[in-house]
Amino acid sequence: MSGKIPREFIDELLMRVDIVDLIDSHVPLKKTGANYVARCPFHAEKTPSFSVSQPKQFFHCFGCGISGNAISFLMNFSHLDFVEAVEDLAGFAGIEIPRESIQYQPKQKKEDLNNLYALMEQVAAFYMQRLRSTDEGKKAVEYLKTRGISGDVARAFMLGYAPNQWKGLIDKFGRELLMAGGLLGANENGEVYGRFRGRIMFPIRDKRARIIGFGGRALDNSLPKYLNSPETSLFHKGKEVYGLHELLQKNSKPQRILIVEGYMDVIALAQFGIHYAVATLGTATSQAHLDLLFRFSSELVFCFDGDRAGREAAWRAIASVFPSLKGGRQIRIMLLPQNHDPDSLVRDEGLDKFIERVETAQVLSDYFFEHFSKDLKLSEMESRSSLKDDAESYLKQLPIGAFREMMFAKLSDLAKQYILDNEAMLAYKKQQKNHRLNSGRLSLPSFVISLLLQNPKFIEIVGQKEIDWNQLEFDGIEKFKAILQIVADKKPANYGVLLEIFRNHPDETIVKKLAAFESLIPEDGIETEFCDALNGLLKQGREAGLARLWAKAQGEGLNVQEQETLIKMLANK
Ligand code: UTP
Ligand code: MN
Repeated sequence: MSGKIPREFIDELLMRVDIVDLIDSHVPLKKTGANYVARCPFHAEKTPSFSVSQPKQFFHCFGCGISGNAISFLMNFSHLDFVEAVEDLAGFAGIEIPRESIQYQPKQKKEDLNNLYALMEQVAAFYMQRLRSTDEGKKAVEYLKTRGISGDVARAFMLGYAPNQWKGLIDKFGRELLMAGGLLGANENGEVYGRFRGRIMFPIRDKRARIIGFGGRALDNSLPKYLNSPETSLFHKGKEVYGLHELLQKNSKPQRILIVEGYMDVIALAQFGIHYAVATLGTATSQAHLDLLFRFSSELVFCFDGDRAGREAAWRAIASVFPSLKGGRQIRIMLLPQNHDPDSLVRDEGLDKFIERVETAQVLSDYFFEHFSKDLKLSEMESRSSLKDDAESYLKQLPIGAFREMMFAKLSDLAKQYILDNEAMLAYKKQQKNHRLNSGRLSLPSFVISLLLQNPKFIEIVGQKEIDWNQLEFDGIEKFKAILQIVADKKPANYGVLLEIFRNHPDETIVKKLAAFESLIPEDGIETEFCDALNGLLKQGREAGLARLWAKAQGEGLNVQEQETLIKMLANK
């Protein structure tokens, strides 16, 4: 940091650079019509939905929704923060950045920081040397071996050993610097001593490979098990994670990042070849952690213990991650079996099983709605509305955008679905008493079909609606369409005629069952009921269809027809 970049400079820079040239130098663009297009570099897709507009100096992907100007492009593409991106862009344009008020950042301070980084490096080297070539260190090596850590992995993570001495470091390095680096403690008499003694040392590196702090583990059961660096001018627990540098060295753009709790979890996973795990440093996952990690991957998988405390921690984490969720960012929740952490689990079950767990971890929105719908099903009418309020208060924290809209739509759907299910259930129970019908309760599509079969003239109501089937998604949609089609083609005058049509037809059984369903609706209310149910189904189907397309857009990508459908649907919302 060397002074603030003037606002006018940034404006001018954006005028001088052509976003088409900039992006083209990273992702080859093709001109089509007024725009330039490419396959989106921010999500996997087969057909290009990433477009760059020269007149607007703007890029946009309607697959994943990412958009912005030249600076945003660099921030996202090269994982830079704002200032870094401006610096990069100025470099691209070949212009010097003028800085305001250089005197705010005294030279002294920068040198101090550099000295501190250098000290941390030397201390880490000292610890590594002690691990490898002292008798005391050998015990630590033995310990690591019992935990299944190889020499290679220990080296990659720069593991070391802090000898059991009070003055070890002070004899070698400057006291003031050691103090500033958080490597000393002091007693009430003001006597200083080494903070880490007789511990295996885990250097904590930032994304630029600089050592900013340490964690130290006792070799036995003495407490505390882990000791961590205090907050210093280099080290901020709430902003850093353990293992990020090591992860980026293996893959600078991992498909996903696993967030675990412990140092040893990160290391054990690396030992097994899973190089995409990081650990929070004994704190809850913060907004800053997520913003940091989302710069490197669009998918984060949170690992939690499967016990109650773990599930509670998962829930707390969800509340804190909501504000940073938006389209193109995915979070999954992975609950571990009782009494396991990732370290013990991967050793116990092996790599394949563990990876399978990672890959099938539940997406956050499902986890979220499952939690609420479980409670919804159990609860009484009054508390149901307060549960909905609770869920809404979470959803309100989501940034404005299509993902937020989708979550709200899903919530109202869920609440409605519950009521519909419940009504159908009531009807079914009454009916079961009267008719001993042994079918299950009716889903909404089945309910609609059953009313239609019993009142074939309602096909006209369906005909009046312009239904775009591509937009809809619900269970049994193909069968639903097929039955509608037959009714529309044959226009049976009544129920009997209709049953004849289905004789020996593959759907005969289901048609009969549905036609026999007694809805207990009074005759003069049936048409209204049918219209309502049909409208409800179409709305629900569209919401589910939207959600499916949206998820697909973020995952494997959409084909042209799906893209058109999505755009149409978003426009009509
Ligand atoms: P765990 O106790 O789960 O540690 O604490 P672990 O990584 O599984 O350790 P092993 O397997 O027993 O060696 C998880 C994390 O919580 C922090 C550390 O960051 C640790 O990795 N912690 C734990 C502390 O800071 N201090 C402690 O005393 C314990
Ligand atoms: Mn452990």
